[in-house]
Amino acid sequence: MCGIVGVVRLKPQNDVTLGKLIKTCLERLEYRGYDSVGFAVLKNGELVYRKKKGKIADVSPALRFEEFDGSIGVGHTRWATHGPPNDANAHPHMDCTRSIAVVHNGIIANYAKLKDELLALGHKFLSETDTEVFAHLFEQNIKTSQTCYEAFKKAVSQITGSYALVCICLKEPEKMFFARKNTPLVIGVSEEQIFVASDIPAFLEYTNRVIVINDNELGYVSTDGKIVIENLLTSQKVQPYSRLRLIPWTAELARKGGYPHYMIKEIHEQPIAIGDTVRYNANDSALSLAAELVNSARNLFLVGAGTAHYASLTGRDALALLARKPSIPVISSEFSLFSKTATESDVVLAVSQSGETHDTLMAIRSFKEKGAKVISICNVMESAIPRESHIQLYTKAGPEIGVAATKTFVSQVSLLQLLAVRVGLLNGSLKETEASEYIKKLDEIPVLVERNIALSEVRAKELARIFKNKQSAYYLSRGTGVPLAKEGALKVKEVAYIHAEAYEAGESKHGPISLVSEGFPVVFVFSDNEVFDQMRSNLVEMRSRGAYTVGLIGKERKAELAETLDYSFDLSASDSLLNTIAFAPTLQLIAYYLALERGYDPDKPRNLAKTVTVE
Ligand code: AGP
Repeated sequence: MCGIVGVVRLKPQNDVTLGKLIKTCLERLEYRGYDSVGFAVLKNGELVYRKKKGKIADVSPALRFEEFDGSIGVGHTRWATHGPPNDANAHPHMDCTRSIAVVHNGIIANYAKLKDELLALGHKFLSETDTEVFAHLFEQNIKTSQTCYEAFKKAVSQITGSYALVCICLKEPEKMFFARKNTPLVIGVSEEQIFVASDIPAFLEYTNRVIVINDNELGYVSTDGKIVIENLLTSQKVQPYSRLRLIPWTAELARKGGYPHYMIKEIHEQPIAIGDTVRYNANDSALSLAAELVNSARNLFLVGAGTAHYASLTGRDALALLARKPSIPVISSEFSLFSKTATESDVVLAVSQSGETHDTLMAIRSFKEKGAKVISICNVMESAIPRESHIQLYTKAGPEIGVAATKTFVSQVSLLQLLAVRVGLLNGSLKETEASEYIKKLDEIPVLVERNIALSEVRAKELARIFKNKQSAYYLSRGTGVPLAKEGALKVKEVAYIHAEAYEAGESKHGPISLVSEGFPVVFVFSDNEVFDQMRSNLVEMRSRGAYTVGLIGKERKAELAETLDYSFDLSASDSLLNTIAFAPTLQLIAYYLALERGYDPDKPRNLAKTVTVE
């Protein structure tokens, strides 16, 4: 996730330069990414651009935004995806002639193929990013097009993946081009200027008049105030002002995308986070290298803490089921019991959102001392854990600000499943057709997640009112649902301060059931289709002791449990492993609304830090 902004000035202004205005917009977008910054402005037949690695406050003295004026400009604050954070990979990206400047948020999935084609045509690349491909593609299309807009449109139709793009071009210096697919982009309209940005906070202090751009739409804004929007697939023109809305938000609310908390905003960002993670990694050579290493491991250790540990448990299940590859999950802080046994033939798969968790870092160092190879799955490029790993894989969830991990969890689970499919293909556990069928279902998961968020929101709120005064709860599941139950219980502990314990449902009768009395809440995660009947028996056992039973269940099977569930979430389901992704948001929503109902701020849970860098 990155923050992008474009500004078209409609009137000359003396009080603030365009560069300064872009800088202010970028400061408001820094929550979307903050590893490098850049901008470009068009003025008097010149395109000037400057960019640098670092946060806005740190690089401003070097970039000197204030000194650059003009009538059209773009800016970018980056959260690295393709290529580490450095000056060359910072946006904007330029074509060979330095007359096009592009800022982008998202992932151009087919960039490698396009780059090969453009290299063969003689284009010279300066960065490792997917974005730079678009600048050269635009340049290439200008050669055969009547107008820059026609060239831009052609270029947009050639890329796949997710993108919010804003481009300026010296050849038509009165226009700013934009396009959107699977990642947000909005227009802000004022008397003085028109903005195109990733998010409303970018321009909220200048205007609250907003036009939303939909997926597969593109167009341009020109210095005479004209806004053109059309659908890329149908070429149908949109009346921009028919979509004009007045946004009644404060700046703080706007940073949260209109949501009251980052946690709920990030829950809603999950479909994009999963889609971007899968698209990016499916095309990344690091995934193939990681699959080979995993496949060849004598022992495979999956290391992580908290939510990352639960994601590792889903990885264990995916590797077992899709690749017949056994693995050993290790809670990071317990590494020494395991690293003592490690050898050069072993592999560690370290999972960490922040890439900075002390326990996980100590664990990988200890395994490395024994010669084991380390693959990391992190969300923050160039953080400590990837830097110390042999192979780096990245989730593409964008910055996660809420302390409770949500979108990074589902991104980790998705990536682990993608890896398991690759390992399965390598060792013959999966046939090509089976693998592509699975990937097809994985590609459909963002839609299911979106649907399940919508299905669960009101129900979770209602359940929170019912559970508000409870002291304790059980979260039970079997098979591939167990890590999900553990994650659901952790979320409730973290943000709602209710003691929630997760167990394998079959194990519950070997002790935990003794705590159950009238009204004791027990949440059953029916995500694993293979163990439905056994789960139902455990449900009946709990119900007959007076438990208040809640079920997360695929809606097709809901009728089978109508008699035994007091409360149910009837969800869109896929197969057992994929349900660990599809059902996760419901558990997060239960925790979120419980926190609100009990009067707590879910973004700042007591005693917790987003990144735990102590032992
Ligand atoms: C999850 O909601 C928690 N914030 C916590 O358990 C977290 O997952 C754990 O500290 C590991 O962090 P990491 O993913 O950054 O390594």
